[in-house]
Amino acid sequence: MASKLLPSLVRCGVRAAAASSRVAARPQTTQLRTLTVSACRPSDALQVHRNTADNNPEIPFKFNAQNEKVIAEILKRYPPQYKKAAVMPLLDLGQRQHGFTSISVMNEVARILDMPPMRVYEVATFYTMYNRTPVGKFFIQACTTTPCQLGGCGSDVIVKAIISHLGIKQGETTADGLFTFIEVECLGACVNAPMIQINDDYYEDLTPESVVDLLKALKESAGATGASAAKIPAPGPLSGRQTCENSHGQTNLTQEPWGTEKTRPEL
Ligand code: FES
Repeated sequence: MASKLLPSLVRCGVRAAAASSRVAARPQTTQLRTLTVSACRPSDALQVHRNTADNNPEIPFKFNAQNEKVIAEILKRYPPQYKKAAVMPLLDLGQRQHGFTSISVMNEVARILDMPPMRVYEVATFYTMYNRTPVGKFFIQACTTTPCQLGGCGSDVIVKAIISHLGIKQGETTADGLFTFIEVECLGACVNAPMIQINDDYYEDLTPESVVDLLKALKESAGATGASAAKIPAPGPLSGRQTCENSHGQTNLTQEPWGTEKTRPEL
């Protein structure tokens, strides 16, 4: 009997040894998985709210009468049971009125739309267009994605010019509260690279000189009205282009279009 059991005992022993060696090899894999599942966030600026003197739920916020009319118009676009779908335009409206999307703005939007505040926080923290901390009067967003890095003089030069002129780093606001500067990804105006967005306006085909002139004009306009305000360059390309036409002039479609009676001339 013992002689019959011996081979199977040996086989079990071999399997157990093999299994234990596999288990011994696993910790490395498990360790790697543990390391990769949790994303490393160098800053809590994207998701976490901390009460501060200028951003806490005790600060009252109400939409003004003009915006209440706008809200009524927006809400007409949705069936009453789906009015929470208006959360994004209402947050945008709150940001425009208050200057940034504070916790009180979010709470007020939640109250108007009968939503749990957390649902509003989720939206406001997901979309980077909602500024959840105060920003300057002129919010500068410089595109540093590849086409803007490569186009014209390149966005690196533009960023350097902005930083050295304003004396602030990315994410900071100037001491006078006029300018906040951040870098962003593609803003969809790649053909007029390099470009920046200031509040709602795009300024394109930039050079270090033109961007500094623009910042100077904006600063002047902040302290004055009328004639000084007119010095601010019109949004769009600052190179003289009207939109995104070829800066070397028209290079195609230069002939009379063929009519239906004509094919290519060489044929
Ligand atoms: S890469 Fe800058 S606007 Fe697209």
